[in-house]
Amino acid sequence: MEFSSSITKENLMRAFAGESQARNRYTFAADAAKRQNYEFLSRVFKLTADQEKAHAEIFYNFLRQSNGENIAIEGAYPVDNYDDIVKLLTSARHNEYEEFETVYPAFAKTAKDEGFLQIAAAFENIAAIEKVHGDRFGTFASLIERGLLFKAENTSEQTEWICLNCGHIHKGPMAPQNCPVCHSDKGFFVPFKYYDFKENGYASIG
Ligand SMILES: [Fe+2]
Ligand SMILES: [Fe+2]
Repeated sequence: MEFSSSITKENLMRAFAGESQARNRYTFAADAAKRQNYEFLSRVFKLTADQEKAHAEIFYNFLRQSNGENIAIEGAYPVDNYDDIVKLLTSARHNEYEEFETVYPAFAKTAKDEGFLQIAAAFENIAAIEKVHGDRFGTFASLIERGLLFKAENTSEQTEWICLNCGHIHKGPMAPQNCPVCHSDKGFFVPFKYYDFKENGYASIG
C-alpha cells in the first residue's frame, strides 16, 4: 500500500488535528483553572497540554512524506468550553478515554492492515498515554466532587502539603488557606505524595 493513497495518511491528519485541539483546549482549561485559583490543576492541564503537543509532533513527523500536500479529512471534534472546573476535568477524561478505547486502536488496526507497522505502534503507544491522562483528570474530578482536593480523606492523618510557589511544607489534615511563608492561595498546595520532582515543579499523580 502506498502511503499517499492510504487511509493511514488521513488518520494521521485526524490525529494531528485532534492532538492540536486537545493541546489548545487544555491550555484554555489551564487558564480557567488559574483564574479560579486552582494553581495545581492549572499545572496539570498545562503539563498534559505539553504532552499533547508531543503527540501531535509524532503524528506530524510521519506526515513529512506528504510535505506540500493538503490532506482533506472528515472528523468530529469536541466543544468543551466550560468555566466549571469539574466539567473541564470530566469532559477531558471522556475525550482521553475515547482516544484510548476507540479512536487510536482503530487507527492502529488500519495502519497494521495497510502495512505501516511503525505508525501502528505509535497509535498504540499514544493510546496508552491517553489512558493515563484520562485517569489523572478523573482522579482530580473525583477529589473535588468528594471535597477532598485540599483535605485528607482520613483527617486523623498528618498529610504533608507542599506549596508549589515557595516549596513550604505544611503538615495537617487540610491545606492551609494561604501559605504561611509566601501567602500563596490554597490552590497552590498539593499533597506532597503527588509532587513529582522529575517534572520540574509540575505535580502529577500516578
Ligand atoms: Fe495525546
Ligand atoms: Fe491526552
